[in-house]
Amino acid sequence: MIVSGSSSQSLAASLAAELDEPLAATAVEHFPDGELLASVPGLADGTTPDRAVVVASTVSADAHLELLQLQDAVREAGVDEVVTVLAYMGYARQDRAFDPGHPVSARAVARAISTGTDRILTVNPHEDAVCDFFDPSADAVDAASTLADPLPADLADPVFLSPDAGAVEIAETVRDAHGDGEVDYFEKTRHSGTDVEIAPSDVRVEARDVVVVDDIIATGGTMSEAVSVLRDRGAARTYVSCVHPLLAGTAYTRLARAGVEAVYGTDTIEGAASAVSVAPVLADEL
Ligand code: R5P
Repeated sequence: MIVSGSSSQSLAASLAAELDEPLAATAVEHFPDGELLASVPGLADGTTPDRAVVVASTVSADAHLELLQLQDAVREAGVDEVVTVLAYMGYARQDRAFDPGHPVSARAVARAISTGTDRILTVNPHEDAVCDFFDPSADAVDAASTLADPLPADLADPVFLSPDAGAVEIAETVRDAHGDGEVDYFEKTRHSGTDVEIAPSDVRVEARDVVVVDDIIATGGTMSEAVSVLRDRGAARTYVSCVHPLLAGTAYTRLARAGVEAVYGTDTIEGAASAVSVAPVLADEL
C-alpha cells in the first residue's frame, strides 16, 4: 500500500502505478488551534497490508508533522513493515552546527522520522552523508539522469554546468543521459540566503546551449546569477535543471527575468517545474 503525504500526491500515485500497489485514501484535518490530523481512513476496513510505503516531501513544518502522523497511523493499524520515501528532505542542507549553540537540524529531523519507520529512501540529498543521521537503514537514490528527459534533443554543442563543484557529478550524470556535451562548474560564493556571486569557469559558452544543473533551486539566487553570467558571455539558449524544484517565493520570476529558456525539475517537489517523475527510479529500489 502506498500512503501519500499531501505534498507528494502526484509522486505517490505514479509510484503506486509503477509498483502496481493500491494507493490508500488519506485525510488531513486542520483544527482551530492549528493542530493537524493526517490519517489513513482506508485502514479502518480491517484489511492491513504487510507493507506501507509512506511518500512525503518535508517542504514545510506541517509536512513534517503529517509524515510522522502517517507513519504512526499505519503502524497503529498493524502494518508489519513501514518504508518511508522522503522524496525531498527539508533541512538536509543544515547538516552541521554552523555556529556555537546551533543544532544539527538535519540530524534532529532524521531522528524524529526514524522512530516511525523500518527503512528510508531519499532522493539526491544535498550530501549523501545525511543518510547516516537515520537509525534504520537509509539510502539515497540518484534521480539525476531523469533530468535529461525534458531537455530539447537539438541542444547545440551543449555545455552542462553546475553552479559549484559540489553538484558537478549531477551535471555529469545529466550529460551522460543526454548523450554528449562538455561538463564544467562555476565557483560560487554565498553572501547571504538570497545573494550569491558566481565566478565564471573558463569553458567557452559563446553561441552554445548551456544547461545549468543543481540539486535544488530554493530562492533561485544561485541559478539566476548563473544564467545572467552566461547571457553576458554570449551563451545561446540557457536551461536550468534541478532534482528538487523548491522555487520558494519569487524564484521562478527571478529565473524568467534572468532570461532562462525553461526550468526543469522532478516531482520530488510538485509544482510548475515538475517535468519528470522520479517514481521509476524509486520503484527500482522498492
Ligand atoms: C547549495 O549548495 C545547493 O546545491 C544549491 O545551490 C542551493 O541550495 C540553491 O539555493 P538558492 O536557489 O537559494 O540559491
